[in-house]
Amino acid sequence: MLEVLPQLPADPILGLSAAFKEDTNPHKIDLGVGVYKDENGDTPILSSVAKAQTLLLEKETTKTYITPQGVQGYIDGMLELILGKGHPALLEDRVAAVQAPGGCGALRILSELLKRCNPDTTVWVSDPTWANHIPLIGNAGLNIETYPYFDKDTAGIKFAQMAECLAKVKKGDVVLLHGCCHNPTGADLTKEQWHAVLDIAKDRGFLPFIDIAYQGFGDGIEEDAYGVRLLTQNLPEVIIAASCSKNFGLYRERVGLAAMITANSTIKKSIQSQIQFVARGIYSMPPSYGGALVDIILNDEELKHEWQNEVNDMRVRMQSLRELLVNKLAEKGAQKDFSFVTSQKGMFSYLCITPEQVQAVRDKHSVYFVNSSRVNVAGISLKNVDQLATALVDVL
Ligand code: LMR
Repeated sequence: MLEVLPQLPADPILGLSAAFKEDTNPHKIDLGVGVYKDENGDTPILSSVAKAQTLLLEKETTKTYITPQGVQGYIDGMLELILGKGHPALLEDRVAAVQAPGGCGALRILSELLKRCNPDTTVWVSDPTWANHIPLIGNAGLNIETYPYFDKDTAGIKFAQMAECLAKVKKGDVVLLHGCCHNPTGADLTKEQWHAVLDIAKDRGFLPFIDIAYQGFGDGIEEDAYGVRLLTQNLPEVIIAASCSKNFGLYRERVGLAAMITANSTIKKSIQSQIQFVARGIYSMPPSYGGALVDIILNDEELKHEWQNEVNDMRVRMQSLRELLVNKLAEKGAQKDFSFVTSQKGMFSYLCITPEQVQAVRDKHSVYFVNSSRVNVAGISLKNVDQLATALVDVL
């Protein structure tokens, strides 16, 4: 029976890591998968996380199941981090939430929940969006449409076209928005644009679905929550998928959050039961470990402060790497003006070069990044920037 299924091509993002590993060039450069790296190319455990691990080891006395919703201190800490202290939806007990296995797990169970609300739901995603949004949402059986977002010619957001498209979506459709640090483009909505999206959402009655996986990597932990807070303060219903992979560096622990802002606490109770039912039918309950670490960090003033400093350090370093690359490209006489790279936010930059140029830079120079021209900025270093700029100038 199994022979009917063909072998699939490698994943467009994860497949890069395998190709990179196989490359024997000692000067190869990995700008593929979105993982933070230091100057040596390492992804060390954050110091706040290492301390939380020690504390957890001391206090954990059992490995019995946790509750179906996950570690409650984690959920509460994350909701406060994303929505802000004293958010009306929290005070009014309108937020259903569960810990999920990574941001992916959150995206998937929220998609399954939408399917239960209406099997014909259409989810609008930005063009382009993170490649894995498509299977995570589509494999749940939802329809996917795209709205215009990024203009490769200007390396900016096509906001007028985006707004025009959103103004035509049907009541009850779902619009997926990136809370900050848009993946793959690094082009984020301005505050004014978030307000415009809010007005259209009110007018059309669509449901915003916010994916926030890089909080703190754009302008700051609080600043990056502007859009999600604006929408959740002004609309009765918003759903949110969050991840601790990047800002807590907990990638392999798979720590995410699925949160649903509902119109009142009665609906919240139903939705809480529904999302737990969905999760029970897929993976039963989330793994505890990563959530337990984030719980410790967010609920300990000193550790939280240390973590905030570590996130700030990562953000500042990535911003400086953007400048380093742009200056180096100019110094090497690049035919293209790459200054837009410094205004993109977060971990990714969309270089706006062709897939053929991306392939050429990989084949000729062993520089690996996604075909769309998305580079992981954190993979740039003082050591490799010269070689990287030379390679890019060569294929332009
Ligand atoms: C990425 O976009 O590179 C990361 O979120 C890793 C992944 O799962 O694709």
